[in-house]
Amino acid sequence: MSTSEQKTTNTEQVFIFDTTLRDGEQSPGATMTLQEKLTIAELLDTMGVDIIEAGFPIASNGDFEAVAAVADQAKNAVIAGLARAIPADIERAGEAVRNARRGRIHTFISTSPIHLAHQMRKSEDEVLEIVTRTVTLARNLIDDVEWSAMDATRTPLAFLSRCVEAAIRAGATTINIPDTVGYSVPEEYFKLIDDLIKTVPGADDVIFSTHCHNDLGLAVANSLAGVRAGARQVECTINGLGERAGNAALEEIVMAIKTRTDELPYHTDIEATHLAKASKVVAAAANFPVQYNKAIVGKNAFAHESGIHQDGMLKNAQTYEIMTPESVGIKSTSLVMGKHSGRHAFREKLKNLGYELGDNAFQEAFTRFKALADRKKHVFDEDLVALVDDEMGSAADRIRLVEMNVISRTGGTNHCELVVSIDDKPVSVSVEGTGSVDAIFNAIKKAVGADPHLVHYGVDAVTGGTDAQANAHVRLEMDGRIASGSATEPDTLFASARAYLNAYNRLLVERGASAQGAMAG
Ligand code: KIV
Ligand code: ZN
Repeated sequence: MSTSEQKTTNTEQVFIFDTTLRDGEQSPGATMTLQEKLTIAELLDTMGVDIIEAGFPIASNGDFEAVAAVADQAKNAVIAGLARAIPADIERAGEAVRNARRGRIHTFISTSPIHLAHQMRKSEDEVLEIVTRTVTLARNLIDDVEWSAMDATRTPLAFLSRCVEAAIRAGATTINIPDTVGYSVPEEYFKLIDDLIKTVPGADDVIFSTHCHNDLGLAVANSLAGVRAGARQVECTINGLGERAGNAALEEIVMAIKTRTDELPYHTDIEATHLAKASKVVAAAANFPVQYNKAIVGKNAFAHESGIHQDGMLKNAQTYEIMTPESVGIKSTSLVMGKHSGRHAFREKLKNLGYELGDNAFQEAFTRFKALADRKKHVFDEDLVALVDDEMGSAADRIRLVEMNVISRTGGTNHCELVVSIDDKPVSVSVEGTGSVDAIFNAIKKAVGADPHLVHYGVDAVTGGTDAQANAHVRLEMDGRIASGSATEPDTLFASARAYLNAYNRLLVERGASAQGAMAG
């Protein structure tokens, strides 16, 4: 059933609040550039997300600028900025969303005994007074104010109810009940939302919202339990990105509601055919690969491997398929283009895949496509998506790979000769390693004069076949900061080197440090 058909069945709307750019970006290593945030925000706005939480404006100038730029750009969605229960935070958030067609200040304070005692060192009465004062301040700045009780699910109901009542009296229009540490189970979360809606004075005049973390793998189940209890806003992120084990995954919430309208008689305004693309763009920007068996958007989500399943699928797809890949925007692999394809066909193909690039980005992508088509016989849709996403990741790199030669020998050490350009100056090194990748990473470390800790290194094939492109992921850590990088190349070793450099470049951006030797000091 299509979204428009659902609406005609008189179901109630569940508003989708996407926090990929705020809670999602708080995942270690998931920092995104301004351009990446704008691209993601545009996608979310186009696909029908109701509220986009674009960042935490007081956190840094970069966060403030990102929220303001998303607010300027958005055509439909409400743009929210997060603020602690501190006047300076609230004023900064108000300033950041000032130019939005519809802006929201989202302010929060902890309510659980453990947070009050150990983190805030405040009494319940002090917290209640702060709720009233800060929500009132926010309401004086803007009409749309969301209030969140951090660690709500570990807060005694009596005190939580008093806080919710205070926030409503002070003018909050949305009340969010976060399961901040992902501790709740569905029956309990249902009861919590149900109790609050039924007992708190003024509850009927506001929208209740869920915000569930996934530490026990229950974020989506808890969010849907909250909806059944009467919550009409769900906070979630693309790919479930977020602190620790992440948040409720937007694509899972949307498709559960769409697929099981019999049990979940609601609708969202999300155009589900954009989900696959949103997943890819966020995975590339945040450098957070999606697990193969991830519901809805994982590589294997619609793959049928066993003979009995394949037999059933061939006879009737519904035997093993509860939704179609097309319904979430997954197109079957198609052989697209070769080295003779021209600019026009390439632009059209990208458009079909959902990419409209500016002139410079298009020219760069076309040059890389030609180079790829020269080396790889079959160029698939997935290759093009990887190629364009890879362009996004490398735009701001200050250290670039110029040339690399690797020699691998059986039973001996491996050797890497490398030239990188650091802020446009070439640096050459020659280094040994236990394996080829070790030699490459050692060479980069020597060239830049630093020794970051390698947290993760992995390689996937973009398509099948021995000539498939390699997509390499690297995560580096330095001084408690983590940055991830990825790169796609027909050659695994080049992909690995570029992914390492991409992660290193992101560490430099975060530190605002000089390129060479940045990690040493
Ligand atoms: O998890 C949480 O409690 C949050 C709040 C800031 C809403 O992210
Ligand atoms: Zn959160």
